[in-house]
Amino acid sequence: MKKPANNDYPINELSRERWSPRAFSDDPVPARFIASLLEAARWAPSAANEQPWRFIIGMKGDATWDLLYSTLIGWNQQWADQAPLLLLIIGKEKNNSNEKSNQWYAYDCGQAMAHLTLEVTNLGLYAHQMGGFSAEKAVELFAIPEGFKPLAMAAIGYSGNAEKLPEEMKKREVAPRERKELKELVFSGKFGEPSKII
Ligand SMILES: Cc1cc2nc3c(=O)[nH]c(=O)nc-3n(C[C@H](O)[C@H](O)[C@H](O)COP(=O)(O)O)c2cc1C
Repeated sequence: MKKPANNDYPINELSRERWSPRAFSDDPVPARFIASLLEAARWAPSAANEQPWRFIIGMKGDATWDLLYSTLIGWNQQWADQAPLLLLIIGKEKNNSNEKSNQWYAYDCGQAMAHLTLEVTNLGLYAHQMGGFSAEKAVELFAIPEGFKPLAMAAIGYSGNAEKLPEEMKKREVAPRERKELKELVFSGKFGEPSKII
């Protein structure tokens, strides 16, 4: 199902088309597509080129998928059970060159996911990111070493049939996508003063 942005100004097609469905078809994601979406994440920019992102991926039917799925909260388990690909992004909290904290690591991991989701869209796939999972459980199940933090999960796959979703999720699936107005977000002069550009 398509749900393009109702944008006020022209934007690129990938940003316009990307959205986060909960209905996925059970068609598997080809391995070459999985490699491409991770490649897009790899080429994201990061502070001092630290590349603090690490990924754990599971394909439906394999043991990693089952473990990733088991870390999700109940709400997310209800719909993500259809997703052929589950992904966990893990951030490296310290710099590569020394033991100092990298204050940008989470920012950079978010950026890697932004690049990944646009590549996902480019491949005709959809991604739904999730904060609703147990990071503690992920650390335990995947033996994630100290200094690395599980940040978010994503369900990735082809669009599916919304009719299969539980009632509340079906409603959300077809509801219009909403955003704040640009003038609430973009300032010039003091914080809170809308920029005249908008
Ligand atoms: C970091 C992050 C965490 C999220 N956590 C969840 C989640 O646990 N469960 C869920 O159903 N959606 C989750 N979402 C999806 C958002 O609700 C969704 O991106 C937002 O409503 C905007 O919709 P759109 O992506 O379709 O434009 C999350 C998104 C992000 C970026």
